[in-house]
Amino acid sequence: MTKGTKRALTLTSILLLALTSSLGPASVSANDVGYGEQKPHPDEIDGVKCLPYPVIVQETDNTKWETSDTYTLPEVPGTAAPLDKIDPDVSEMLCKLTIEEKVGQMMQIMMSEFMGCDGNLNKTALIDWMDNWKIGSILDVPSSEGGKYAWYTPPKLADVLDEIQEVATKHGSKIPILYGTDLVHGGNYIKGATIFPQSIGMAATFNLDLVNKGAKITAKDARVAGVPWVFAPILDLGVHKNWPRIYEGYGEDPLLVSKLANATVSGLQGNYRKDRNKVATSIKHFIAYGVPTSGLDRESRMVPDNTLMEYYVPPFEAAIKSGAATVMHSYSILNQESVVTSEYYLKELLREKLKFKGMMVTDMSEINNIINEHYTAGDLNQAIHQTMNYTSVDLSMIATDHEFGR
Ligand SMILES: *[C@@H]1O[C@H](CO)[C@@H](O)[C@H](O)[C@H]1NC(C)=O
Ligand SMILES: *[C@@H]1O[C@H](CO)[C@@H](O)[C@H](O)[C@H]1NC(C)=O
Ligand SMILES: *[C@@H]1O[C@H](CO)[C@@H](O)[C@H](O)[C@H]1NC(C)=O
Repeated sequence: MTKGTKRALTLTSILLLALTSSLGPASVSANDVGYGEQKPHPDEIDGVKCLPYPVIVQETDNTKWETSDTYTLPEVPGTAAPLDKIDPDVSEMLCKLTIEEKVGQMMQIMMSEFMGCDGNLNKTALIDWMDNWKIGSILDVPSSEGGKYAWYTPPKLADVLDEIQEVATKHGSKIPILYGTDLVHGGNYIKGATIFPQSIGMAATFNLDLVNKGAKITAKDARVAGVPWVFAPILDLGVHKNWPRIYEGYGEDPLLVSKLANATVSGLQGNYRKDRNKVATSIKHFIAYGVPTSGLDRESRMVPDNTLMEYYVPPFEAAIKSGAATVMHSYSILNQESVVTSEYYLKELLREKLKFKGMMVTDMSEINNIINEHYTAGDLNQAIHQTMNYTSVDLSMIATDHEFGR
C-alpha cells in the first residue's frame, strides 16, 4: 500500500472511529493509526486515569482562550538571515559538549512520544529521552500524527512548551530544546488561530501583499503559542497533475512561486533574531519534490539539470536571498540518487551555489527511509554514514526511534 492510500485510509478510519466510538468499542489495531501509532493502553497507569482507548481526537484543553491576554509588541525593522559565523555563546556551548551530547543535538523527536495516556505531558517519558539520548529538538503538536488529543489553545501549548524547556535545561545536555512544527496555511495546529486558504488558493490571488500579511499573522499566532520555528513555506512546483500535495504549494510557475517565497519568508521571519512577533522558517522540500514520475507522493523523479536550475531552484534561491533560516530536504530519489545522501544536491547546489548558511533538517524519518524505501543503504550505520559524510544535514527528523543516537 502506498503512503497516499494509507493516509487516506487513516482519515477514513478516524471518521469511522468517530462514528463508532459512541456505539461501543471499535476494533482497530495500533497500525491503522499511522505515524507514531497510538498504542493500546489500560484504563489507569500509576494512579493516572487514562483517556478512553481507542478514540483518536479527544478534548484535553479546557482553556478559555477567549479570555487570554492579548498583546502587541513593536515590530523590529530590517531582516535577519543565517550568519557566516556561529554566535560565540553557541560555539562555547558546543565546545563543552561530549560526542554523545553532540549526536543528541542532531536528534529531533515527535512530541507525541512524551504524551501520557491522560493527554498531558508525561515528564517521566521526556526525562528518559533527555537523559538517555540527550535530544536537542522536538517537533509537532500533541494532536498530530501519533498524537491522540485535540489541538491546544495558545496558552496551553505555551505552558506545555515551557514545561518541556524546564525539563530540557535540567536534564541531558541542559540546553533549551529547539521546537518546530508545520504551520503552512495559518496556525492550523493551534486552536483559535487564524486559518488561511491552502497555499494554492493564496497563490491564485496573485496578491503578494495579501500573502505577506497572512504570513505576518501566522508568525504572531505561532509566537503567542510559544512556537519559534515553522516548517513553511512549501516551495515545490506542483507540476505533476496527479501529485496529491499540489494544494500545499504555490502552483507551478517559477516566477510567481519565487515572488511568493519572498513574500512569505519576509512575513514570517522579518528580523526574527530580535523580533518576538516573528518565527524562523524552514523552506521545503529541497529539491524537485513536486514532480514524481508516476504522480504518487514520494515516488522517484527524473529532472534534467537545466530544467532543475531553470524551474525548481529559483523559488529556493529567492527564499534564501530573503533570509530563510532553515531548509528541509525532499523525500525521495532524484535522478537515481537519494536526495538526503546527495553531495551534489545538498552540498554543491545548496551550500556552495546557493550559498545557504542556515540549518538543514531532514524530512520525517528520511535517514531510515534510505534503508526501507530507497534501498540505497543496507543498514542504519551505512545510512547515517552516507548522510553525514556526503551532505550538510544538521538535524535528523527521526520522529520516534532512537537508533540514530546509538
Ligand atoms: C509515562 O511514560 C513512562 C515511560 O515511558 C511510562 O512507563 C508510563 O506508563 C507513562 N505514564 C502515563 C500516565 O502515560
Ligand atoms: C520581498 O518582500 C518584501 C515584503 O513584502 C518586500 O518589501 C521586498 O521588496 C521583496 N523583495 C523582493 C526581492 O521582491
Ligand atoms: C567520505 O567522503 C569523502 C568525500 O567527501 C570520500 O573521499 C570518502 O571516501 C568518504 N568516506 C567513506 C568511508 O565513504
